[in-house]
Amino acid sequence: MIFEQVPTGGCQSYLIGCGETCAAALIDPEISQVDHYVALAARDGLRVRYVIDTHTHADHFSATREIARQLHVPVIMHRSSPAPFVDMRLGDGELIVLGKLRLQALHTPGHTKDSMCLVVEDRVFTGDTLLIGATGRTDLPSGDPEALYDSLFERLLKLDPALKVYPAHDYKGRSHSTIGDEIATNPRLQKRERMAFVEMMRSLNLTMPTHVTEALRTNMSGGKTVSQLLAQAAATVPFMSMAELKARVEAQEDDLIVLDVRERDAYEAAHIPGARLLPRGQLELRVNQDLPDPTRRILACCELGYVSTLAASTLREMGFQHAVALDGGMKAWRESGYPTRSGREP
Ligand SMILES: [Fe+2]
Repeated sequence: MIFEQVPTGGCQSYLIGCGETCAAALIDPEISQVDHYVALAARDGLRVRYVIDTHTHADHFSATREIARQLHVPVIMHRSSPAPFVDMRLGDGELIVLGKLRLQALHTPGHTKDSMCLVVEDRVFTGDTLLIGATGRTDLPSGDPEALYDSLFERLLKLDPALKVYPAHDYKGRSHSTIGDEIATNPRLQKRERMAFVEMMRSLNLTMPTHVTEALRTNMSGGKTVSQLLAQAAATVPFMSMAELKARVEAQEDDLIVLDVRERDAYEAAHIPGARLLPRGQLELRVNQDLPDPTRRILACCELGYVSTLAASTLREMGFQHAVALDGGMKAWRESGYPTRSGREP
């Protein structure tokens, strides 16, 4: 077995491969590590065949769909996952064949309804059902402390005590533990009576994870995160530095159309001398009238530099092959003391 553990903040993801056949699977991949996983698999001589989420994550952005798209491999989740993009839905006890390895799914609802653990040889990937010294929380959508009790005490903790536990999270830099260690020392597992356990889980009062709304939206639908949209736009657009633009404005070069895509009030308060106003919300509607020559060089600017990136990307899609975005925004431009003008342009 070839095995790699990839931590990202408190998240843990795993690359597991068969040394004989080179077939591999990724478990709980995180969106910022896509290149890392692909590079690790290549370094280890593995080919990723499956991407697996142990459950619908609420606290980070899953990379399963992006990797599936890049590598043309199926996304695997438990049968009760709400995500429409899942290609292979596993039922309790079913196996994934990975060369000579067998990954067996155990349905362990509780943290979420679609939580599953995966047993492979000497180890079990426990998702957020069982963590080192803790359990997954049960207060997020589809969480259920009674179901978690059953999943832990009736299923997971009855497995071989020597099985190594690899969870989907660890916030203290630990790589793994064992079923036996968790039974002996995990504080949450000391409440062995159902009611006491359920009562403890209900009274944890944990703070909401950051980005919970966006994580659930994207992980459940397969939609994109805001930063993915921005990164995709940025990958298609050249940028111009503020210093370069300032030099061009001061030299009064007229080969560049500076297009301010903020709203009118922001534009009239202070804009780059010579800039034209075309709010982002009206870009597609007014482009034919306002920008009749697609061969012109256009620089989009906005307040922070994000909306202008989207605008420049849209312009390029519409055929403005010389559209660029300002590397920075009007806020930084003003703070640098660069020249501005207020009111309307003549
Ligand atoms: Fe989770």
